[in-house]
Amino acid sequence: MDGGGLAILRAQGLEVEEGVLGEACARFHAPFFKLIHTGLPWVSLKLALGSDGALGPEGRTTPITPPEVQRLGHALRRASEAIVVGRHTAEVDDPQLTDRWPAPTAPHRTFHRVVMDNAGQVPPGARVWQPVAGQPALRAITGDPGPLRGVEDLRLPPGSRGCSLRHLLHELAARGVGRVLVEGGGTLVRAFLDQGLGDEFHRFLGDAPAGGTPLDLPFPRNWQVRAQARWPGGYWEVWR
Ligand SMILES: NC(=O)c1ccc[n+]([C@@H]2O[C@H](COP(=O)([O-])OP(=O)(O)OC[C@H]3O[C@@H](n4cnc5c(N)ncnc54)[C@H](OP(=O)(O)O)[C@@H]3O)[C@@H](O)[C@H]2O)c1
Repeated sequence: MDGGGLAILRAQGLEVEEGVLGEACARFHAPFFKLIHTGLPWVSLKLALGSDGALGPEGRTTPITPPEVQRLGHALRRASEAIVVGRHTAEVDDPQLTDRWPAPTAPHRTFHRVVMDNAGQVPPGARVWQPVAGQPALRAITGDPGPLRGVEDLRLPPGSRGCSLRHLLHELAARGVGRVLVEGGGTLVRAFLDQGLGDEFHRFLGDAPAGGTPLDLPFPRNWQVRAQARWPGGYWEVWR
């Protein structure tokens, strides 16, 4: 990146052409370049919305994604070293947040499962707190809610709402995380976008309405749809 490698090749008499497929390579390596330049991991945001742009009625789990698209979501987990959700999602959906598809994760890999739970409200019996080998559960907190057995607390300074997201990302980078997947809910995804901390957004738009309040998310002005695919039941889009 500082041209040292090019200098070595040239010093050995090799002809070197720079910038070949430069744009495609920059896109492919964007997460690595971001980590090197900023110390922050790449942040992929993901939500499934109904045709009305909503997530479903508040306080309820509304299934929007068909199984094929759920597998796409699992592929995104496999490509990340950490997953993050807001505490309402942990309470309402009670997910495990594990990396488990198409096969159990490799034994050498660490996949961090993070819940933004500033005041420690997600109950001890929640599925996300169940121990999983190689997939530590982390509770991001701002206060002192008391320990939770088997769960590591990530004590963060307060941010504009709840825990500071920038500090969260630095903490994860320090643990070797280069890519983070934020899987909802709407409040947490909005907070990442509001603070300019999202790098891309994976959005599934279902064919049927979900109900509830439509989400009007503050995408950066220069973001466009970079990829789109039709799946049974709706569209998958990648905004960046
Ligand atoms: N369709 C989908 O793709 C999808 C995905 C996930 C969830 N969901 C649905 O979404 C709903 C939950 O979403 P939600 O918007 O109500 O809540 P959420 O985003 O899951 O959680 C928000 C909460 O996280 C905590 N938090 C801590 N630090 C934060 C920060 N820096 N910024 C923002 N929040 C922070 C706050 O808890 P305190 O209130 O304690 O401060 C906040 O109220 C559920 O119904 C779930 O089924 C849908």
